Amino acid sequence: MRNLIDILDLSTKEIDTLINTAKDIIEHPAKYSEKCKGKKLATLFFEPSTRTRLSFEAAILELGGNYLGFSETASSSASKGESVGDTAKVVGYYADIIAMRHPKEGAPLVASQKAGIPVINAGDGGHNHPTQTLADLLTIKREKGSFNNLTVGLCGDLKFGRTVHSLILALSRYENVKFVLISPKELKLPEYMKSNVLAKRKIAYEETTSLELSMPKLDILYMTRVQKERFFNEADYIRLKDSYVLTPQKLVNAKADLSIMHPLPRVNEITVEVDNDSRACYFKQVQNGKYMRMALILMLLEVK
Ligand code: NCD
Repeated sequence: MRNLIDILDLSTKEIDTLINTAKDIIEHPAKYSEKCKGKKLATLFFEPSTRTRLSFEAAILELGGNYLGFSETASSSASKGESVGDTAKVVGYYADIIAMRHPKEGAPLVASQKAGIPVINAGDGGHNHPTQTLADLLTIKREKGSFNNLTVGLCGDLKFGRTVHSLILALSRYENVKFVLISPKELKLPEYMKSNVLAKRKIAYEETTSLELSMPKLDILYMTRVQKERFFNEADYIRLKDSYVLTPQKLVNAKADLSIMHPLPRVNEITVEVDNDSRACYFKQVQNGKYMRMALILMLLEVK
C-alpha cells in the first residue's frame, strides 16, 4: 500500500506518470468520470484550508467517487483528546483513502502507520505539502516544458513555508536547477534543508534579502505568504508580514518568460495589478492542483 507523505515518496518517473495522467484527464475528462465509483475519500483537516480540501473533494467527485470528513478539529474527536493514530484507524474502516492536514509536523506519517488505507499528507505544520508541489510541478511543466536548467526564486517565508520545502525537494532531483532564496533574515530556509538537501546534492543556491536585485535572473518567482499561524508572537509577524510585495513596477527588469507562482492564499505579497500580467500563473496552479490530485488518487487506489 502506498502513501504520499513526502514528495520524495514518488520517483521522478512516477511524477512523469502523474503529469501525463493529469494531462489526459484535462483532455478526456469523460473517460475518468466513473473510475472511482463506490470509492470514498476522507478529508481530515485539522487546520484551515480552501483550495487543498475543496480540490481533493472536487477531484474524487469528478472521478465518480464520494467524500466524507471534517474541516475543523473542534468538530472531531481530537477535541476530546483522541490521538491521530486512533482517528486514522477508525477512518480506515469507513473510507478508501485519506487526505490529512495537521498543524503538527509528522502527523500524517503517524496516521499512515495506523490507517490501513493510503494516506496523503495535505500539509503538516511548517514541514511539507507534497500535493501543492504536484500542482506546482504540472504548472512548471506546462509553462516551461522541462524541470531542467531553471533558476527558481523562492521569496517570503522560507522558514515556515511548507510548500517551499516540498518544492525544493522535488526540484532538487533535476539537472542544473539553481535556487535564489529571498527572505528576511528571520525567515530563512531551515538549516536542515540547506545541509540535508542543497549541500548534499551540490545544488547551487544563494541567500539574499533583495527581491529587486534577484529579479533579472529568475525563470520562476515563487512568492509565499508569511505564515502568521506559526509565529510565536504577534509583534514579529506584524514586523515581517509586508517584507515583500510584488507590484508591476518590480517586474520591470524581469525576464519576458518569467513564471510568477504562489501557492495561495495571498495576503499582500502580490498586488492584484499583477494578476493581469500574462506571466502570472497562480490561478493556473489552482486548476492544475485538482487534476494532479485526481491522478494521485488513481495511482494510490491502483485504479487502471
Ligand atoms: C499553502 C499551505 O497551506 O501551506 N496553501 C495551500 O495549500 N495552497 C500555503 C499557505 O497557506 O500559505
